[in-house]
Amino acid sequence: MKREIRVFAPATVANVACGFDILGFAIDQPGDEVIVRLIDKPGVYIVKISGDQGRLPLAAEKNTVSVSILALLKHLKSNQGFEIELMKRMPLGSGLGSSAASTVAGVFAANILLGNPLAKEELLPFATEGERIACGSAHADNAAPALLGGFVLIRSYQPLDVIQIATPKDLYCTVLHPQIEIRTEDARKILKKSILIKDAITQWGNIAGLIAGLMKSDYDLIRRSLQDVIIEPIRSILIPGFHEVKQAALASGALGCSISGSGPSLFALSSTREVASKAGDAMQAVMNSLNIASEIYISKINPVGPRILEN
Ligand code: HSE
Repeated sequence: MKREIRVFAPATVANVACGFDILGFAIDQPGDEVIVRLIDKPGVYIVKISGDQGRLPLAAEKNTVSVSILALLKHLKSNQGFEIELMKRMPLGSGLGSSAASTVAGVFAANILLGNPLAKEELLPFATEGERIACGSAHADNAAPALLGGFVLIRSYQPLDVIQIATPKDLYCTVLHPQIEIRTEDARKILKKSILIKDAITQWGNIAGLIAGLMKSDYDLIRRSLQDVIIEPIRSILIPGFHEVKQAALASGALGCSISGSGPSLFALSSTREVASKAGDAMQAVMNSLNIASEIYISKINPVGPRILEN
């Protein structure tokens, strides 16, 4: 049996415009990596973190990766000890599910080293525990797609009820990551506690329309449904050039464009790679004009989630 394993887990786009806290999908790049190894004494130890500029805690009860592995061990009533090395390959506070990627990679790796006592989908509650540590809320719309791959609907939180949604064969995501940081915790604090029923009706229609559009491969329905009248108007204030970037993506032919998770990244969906790439160039040109450095990632929806890497 293996004593050490290296796992990659992908970045994710949460909310997907209209589905605050209930929709998310995985992309191919970027993502985080962990090395998890069995040790002969009990306890979970983070021995090394790279790529975080020294910002993430090493203490087991504070780090999202170890917290979720500790929760898994508690559930299994196991005393097995682990050492963890975490390689952050994506920026913190990017709106790309950075903490979920690390957490999912860790809990997925630990479960394999323990001999797969739980099925992949059963690991979700432990990964969402990590999210609670990261930003104070156990939202699952990054962790679920990072773990399961694909496009995911969180139909219910209590109990967790997660549905994988079929997507068109040709659906491309463009992510623009401006090199500024927004903490999810802060981006949640500025949201209103209540909403107008008329806005809720618009949002419900769009969520249902988006799901139906994805399942029917109806691009025009997807385009009509990628609208957020509740969260985007508030959070867009935090992102310089937001409206110009969105306009640039739509003018390039993207089906829609909105904030990825809690930002500052923006995502656009397109029906061809050419449009996704053209939208990326146009979105980045806006950031360049504002003198804000940025990265572009283009990928299809990642159907796999975490994967084992050869050492
Ligand atoms: N649904 C969460 C939020 C995702 O928007 O706050 C955070 O990445």
